[in-house]
Amino acid sequence: MAGKITFTMLKPDAVEANNIGPILAKINEGGFRIVAMKYLRLSPEQAGQFYAVHKERPFYGELVSYMSSGPIVAAVLTKDNAVADFRKLIGATDPTKAEEGTIRKMFAKSIAANAIHGSDSDENAQIEANFFFSQLERF
Ligand code: RTP
Ligand code: MG
Repeated sequence: MAGKITFTMLKPDAVEANNIGPILAKINEGGFRIVAMKYLRLSPEQAGQFYAVHKERPFYGELVSYMSSGPIVAAVLTKDNAVADFRKLIGATDPTKAEEGTIRKMFAKSIAANAIHGSDSDENAQIEANFFFSQLERF
């Protein structure tokens, strides 16, 4: 059965452009509740650990340096069918391919600076939430 939680980060481009507020509003309008949230800057080591699944991909180095280039907002969200519904709300990785009305279509600058992260499975949502938050409630 599809789970109730997902994990997100507002990436450095979104924070730099002062889009935290508008993006959180879209998240709430999409039916998600914010149940944990933190503003922080990742070290390159932390960014590398978070995206370790992409270690062999050609864009890994760029991704790690980008994700540690400025502050981010990390958050845990709840909704029925959270992972799939959130991926739909944020849109395609490449903003030029994202549907109208999606967060990446509205706010992303490029495929690297694409405004927002969303977990890709229930298992990863839990792992990613635990990476940032140690005292999560049970949902
Ligand atoms: P995310 O994990 O950030 O939610 O993004 P995603 O699932 O849509 O995409 P994924 O394949 O997991 O890639 C993670 C992030 O790596 C950057 N990327 N750059 N230069 C490139 O070709 C490239 N491809 C991916 C993006 O920032 C992507 O969100
Ligand atoms: Mg991904």
